[in-house]
Amino acid sequence: LFAQECTFLKGCVGMEHLPAHPLVEVAFAGRSNVGKSSLVNALTGRKTLARASNTPGRTQEVNFFRLGPPHSDEAALMLVDLPGYGFARAPQAQVERWTRLVMAYLRGRSALRRVCLLIDARHGLKANDLEVMGMLDSAAVNYQVVLTKADKLGPTVARATHATVAAAVARHVAAHPDVLLTSSETGAGIPELRAQLAALALP
Ligand code: GTP
Ligand code: MG
Repeated sequence: LFAQECTFLKGCVGMEHLPAHPLVEVAFAGRSNVGKSSLVNALTGRKTLARASNTPGRTQEVNFFRLGPPHSDEAALMLVDLPGYGFARAPQAQVERWTRLVMAYLRGRSALRRVCLLIDARHGLKANDLEVMGMLDSAAVNYQVVLTKADKLGPTVARATHATVAAAVARHVAAHPDVLLTSSETGAGIPELRAQLAALALP
């Protein structure tokens, strides 16, 4: 699947703008600056498909990317890059608006098959991550925790963080039991995540 074409479809600033389409959606959620847009780029092998930047609050819309054979919706997938929650270098009112939009999308989108919940491997689970996990548990939305920026940690610390996060995730009913350790910089863990997501696009 990830060898197929990937194209930007639409960016949305409100729930009423979300596109209707026949594809299964996989969303990338997480705190600002955790590496959501970079992960979409790493998965699709495109450096600038989703705009990434060092400024938290880069992604300001719900961005839809169609992945799959151009002329057939079978075995195609919609990747959805979300604005971050938590800290962002933007006015408070705007951050609150993005957070409301992200939560509404996560809770109320029927096409949503899986959420990749990104956690910076250096920081682990924060209070707002746990809040989102609780919300997804109660809405019965399937999610998988993906640790990012593994290249910034040594292997011993990375293993320890992975074990701690995996133990916490095991207590959440809607969470996929596998926690992946990834780096968009080195490509570590990317083939494994591709394999997990590709399975969701199968008819
Ligand atoms: P918002 O859209 O603002 O919520 O951020 P985001 O979660 O989309 O993060 P983005 O992909 O824009 O990345 C934020 C910063 O982290 C950028 O400077 C990236 O280059 C950097 N980054 C992302 N992934 C990795 C990674 O795996 N390793 C390293 N070293 N840096 C990364
Ligand atoms: Mg982004």
